[in-house]
Amino acid sequence: MTLRVLTGITTTGTPHLGNYAGAIRPAIQASLQPNVDAFFFMADYHALIKCEDPERVARSRLEIAATWIAAGLDPEKVTFYRQSDIPEIPELCWMLNCVTPKGLMNRAHAYKASVDQNTARNIEPDDGVTMGLFSYPVLMAADILMFNAHKVPVGKDQVQHLEMARDIAQRFNHLYGRGTDFFVLPEVQVDDDVATLPGLDGRKMSKSYDNTIPLFEGGSRALRDAVMRIVTDSRAPGEAKDPDSAHVFALYRAFATPDQTAAFRAALEGGLAWGDAKGQLFELLDGIIAPMRARYNALMETPEQIETILQAGAAKARKQSGELMARLRQAVGLRQPVAKTSTAVSQKGKSGKQARFVSFRDEGAFRFRLLSAQGDELLLSAPFDDPKAAGQAIAALRSQGVKALADQQGDIAVVQLDGKVIAEVPVAQLTDIDQAIQALNEAD
Ligand code: TRP
Repeated sequence: MTLRVLTGITTTGTPHLGNYAGAIRPAIQASLQPNVDAFFFMADYHALIKCEDPERVARSRLEIAATWIAAGLDPEKVTFYRQSDIPEIPELCWMLNCVTPKGLMNRAHAYKASVDQNTARNIEPDDGVTMGLFSYPVLMAADILMFNAHKVPVGKDQVQHLEMARDIAQRFNHLYGRGTDFFVLPEVQVDDDVATLPGLDGRKMSKSYDNTIPLFEGGSRALRDAVMRIVTDSRAPGEAKDPDSAHVFALYRAFATPDQTAAFRAALEGGLAWGDAKGQLFELLDGIIAPMRARYNALMETPEQIETILQAGAAKARKQSGELMARLRQAVGLRQPVAKTSTAVSQKGKSGKQARFVSFRDEGAFRFRLLSAQGDELLLSAPFDDPKAAGQAIAALRSQGVKALADQQGDIAVVQLDGKVIAEVPVAQLTDIDQAIQALNEAD
C-alpha cells in the first residue's frame, strides 16, 4: 500500500540551514521511498495570518519553492503546489468551519497563548486576535483532509493541530458520511531523530533567536561569515576540546559521514584550533550546499520556471480536490440540479411515449430507474458512489440486457456488474425489462 504523506510549509521567511537539516532534507529523503506518495505544499494562505507584508509573502513563496526544488525535490514524483492555487481548500475550510465546535478552537495553544498574554497585561482577552489566527487549525485540517493524508510530518508545536484535524474529520464523517467515510483520519509524525541544529549561540537555530546560518542567501561568503561567528569556549589552539559540548561539532556531525565525524572528533580532542575547526565546518557545508545554491540561483533568475512547476503541481492536486469537493457538495446538500434529459432516453418513439432510464440523487448517492412507456417503475438501481459507475451500469443494461446480468435466487434476480449489485428485481419482471430496453434501443 502506498502511504500518502503530506506537509505544508508556511511562507513567511527565508529558509536557513536549520530548516534544511530539520525539515527539507528529511522530507525530500522520505519522498524518494518507493511506497510513499508525497504531497508538499506552500501554506501561503496561512502566511497571511502571520504576515501582513505583501512583498515578504511574495518573496518567501518564491524562495521556498526554489529552495525545495534546488534541494532535490522531484516535482514529477511529489505533488508540489501552492495552497492558494487550490480553490477547493478554502471551500472545504468553510464546510469544516461549519462543523467545528468553537470550544475546540478555544483550546488551541496558539490562540490561548495570545489570550493569556492579553490577560496578563490586563487588556481585552481577544485583543489582536484575528479570525484567521483563531481558525488557523481549521484551514490546516482542510489542507490535510482534502488529500486524505495518512501521515503528516510536522514539528512538536503542530501536534495539537493534528488532533484537531482528526476531531474535525470524525465529526464531518459522522454527520454526512452515511456509512462511508469521506476523510481518512491523519496521523501525526514527529521525528525525534531529525537533526535540530544549534544556532550561532548554541540555542536551537531559529529566526526568532536571530542565530541562524543562511542556507543560500548571501552565497558562500555569508555562509563563511556566519560559521566564523559560532560561539565556542575559550580553549586555546593545542588545548584538547570537548566535542560533545561544541556547537561547531554538532553542526559538523549533522552533515558529515560517520568517518568524517570520527576524524573531526579526534582532531578536536587532539587540540585543533577553533578557527581551523570552523574552517573545516565551512568547507564541509559549502561542499554540500554549493551545487544546490547554483540550482537555486538559476531558478530565482527564471521565476517562470518555478511557476510552470507549481502550475503543473496544482493541476495534479486539483484532480483530487475537485473530485472530492463535488462529492462533499452533494453530501452537505449543495446539489446540482439533476438534468432531466441527462440519461433519460429520447422521447421520439413511434407512439410518442418511450421507456426510459432516469437518473436521480438520493442522499448523496447516485441511482437510476427504468420506467416503462406508461411510467411504471420496472427497475430501481442500488445506490452508486459516483455518477460514472451509475452510467456504466445503465450502459451495461442497454448493451447486454438484464437477463445476461441476472443471477436468479428464488423469485428474485440479483443483477450484477463486475461483482457489484446493480439492482434486485422480481424474476417475473425480467422479460418486461428486456423488452423495454430493446424498445428504447430501437427508438434511439
Ligand atoms: N502550520 C504548519 C506549520 O506552521 C504549516 C502547515 C499548514 C501544515 N498546513 C499544514 C503542516 C498542513 C502540515 C499539514 O508548520
